[in-house]
Amino acid sequence: MQNIELVYCSGKKQVKALDNISVDVEKGEFLSIVGPSGCGKTTILKIIARLINPTKGKIIKPDDFEVGYVFQNSTLLKWRSIIDNIALPLEIKGIEKQEAYSKAEEAMNIVELEEFRDAYPKDLSGGMRHRAAIARALVYDPEILLMDEPFGALDEPTRLKLNVEINRIWIKTHRTVIFVTHNVGEAVFLSNRVAVLSKRPAHIKKIIKIDLPKQRTLEILDSEKYIKQVLKIRKIFSQ
Ligand SMILES: Nc1ncnc2c1ncn2[C@@H]1O[C@H](COP(=O)(O)OP(=O)(O)OP(=O)(O)O)[C@@H](O)[C@H]1O
Ligand SMILES: [Mg+2]
Repeated sequence: MQNIELVYCSGKKQVKALDNISVDVEKGEFLSIVGPSGCGKTTILKIIARLINPTKGKIIKPDDFEVGYVFQNSTLLKWRSIIDNIALPLEIKGIEKQEAYSKAEEAMNIVELEEFRDAYPKDLSGGMRHRAAIARALVYDPEILLMDEPFGALDEPTRLKLNVEINRIWIKTHRTVIFVTHNVGEAVFLSNRVAVLSKRPAHIKKIIKIDLPKQRTLEILDSEKYIKQVLKIRKIFSQ
């Protein structure tokens, strides 16, 4: 992203959400974006996904790349089974049924929901529904996976478990991930780098490289190395 600025216009009112955002994301990188509520994090993801155009600045990327987007309020269609939900993006794309379902099964296995293949969303826990939403985003093999606070509403142990799973999926699939959260601990646990945004209009206060082993385990949470990095970023966040 190069010098991105975004001004929302609703009626006569103008709201500047982003101010001069520049960041390079490497292929295969896990970048987290943290910042206060309402600062412009979701706006950044929407611009990357080409759902909205920046007012100024540009995004440089291959033309044909696809993004998988796990929205802040991801919802599964309640009248479709889990496998039918996961296969939906491929169905919309017009992929032939057999191929679509074989890819959907693969994505379902990655998030370990095989047992619930034919269950309906109401039969799943909140965390499992999030995993299904992640599988739905993974299914058409996107170069970039955008995740907008996917675990914001979950209790701590479930969130930690899913953090470990996301790390496992990331290592397994070599995807580029851009992950939005306002949980600094989660950002440090998951990422190669963490971008800290200011209050709205968001600019990047700092990008911090995370020094932790590639495979993240729950033991890391108690390590001095992890805690130090969390404290450092928390300080920048609240400055
Ligand atoms: N479609 C829109 N029209 C007008 N203003 C908008 C629109 N979408 C977002 N905004 C405003 O832009 C700002 C940034 O919104 P955004 O959703 O990007 O924040 P966020 O950092 O994702 O917040 P949260 O952490 O609460 O999800 C907010 O002040 C919001 O009111
Ligand atoms: Mg948001």
